[in-house]
Amino acid sequence: MLTASLVLLNNFVRILFFTWEWLRLTMDRRRADRVPKKRTVSTRGVPMPKVTFHHAGTRASVLQVNAGANLMRAAVHDSVPGIVGECGGQAMCATCHVYVREPYLEALGSIGEDEDEMLDCTVTPRDQVRSRLACQITVGPGVTDIEVDVPESQV
Ligand code: FES
Repeated sequence: MLTASLVLLNNFVRILFFTWEWLRLTMDRRRADRVPKKRTVSTRGVPMPKVTFHHAGTRASVLQVNAGANLMRAAVHDSVPGIVGECGGQAMCATCHVYVREPYLEALGSIGEDEDEMLDCTVTPRDQVRSRLACQITVGPGVTDIEVDVPESQV
């Protein structure tokens, strides 16, 4: 009687184990097949700033970034066409030149001396009002969303 009970218990445990393994594998496969969704809310539940890089024509690269993100770094990280960032954000190459769209200009801080000098060395002509270096723009408090036009050439 005891032996029969142990055999039954053993079989029951095996069935449970195989069912658990089958469920785990099925869930892993489903998770792997799922296309990752772009987050719009940070892990703390705060809405993430949206950065839109407009290219020639109607194309645009839209990124959701963490507050405090640097525009050039975000663009390079996401392989946004037209943003090179050759100097790594030191305001020494002007390969991150962008034209900030009018409604977003006010929220940005003033242009620093280094940025101002470098903006005179851009490949595409400088716009006295809208030209900025993406590496000198940080999104976050005061700059929640921003839209910029990417010049056709940086180098
Ligand atoms: S990355 Fe070089 S000037 Fe912005």
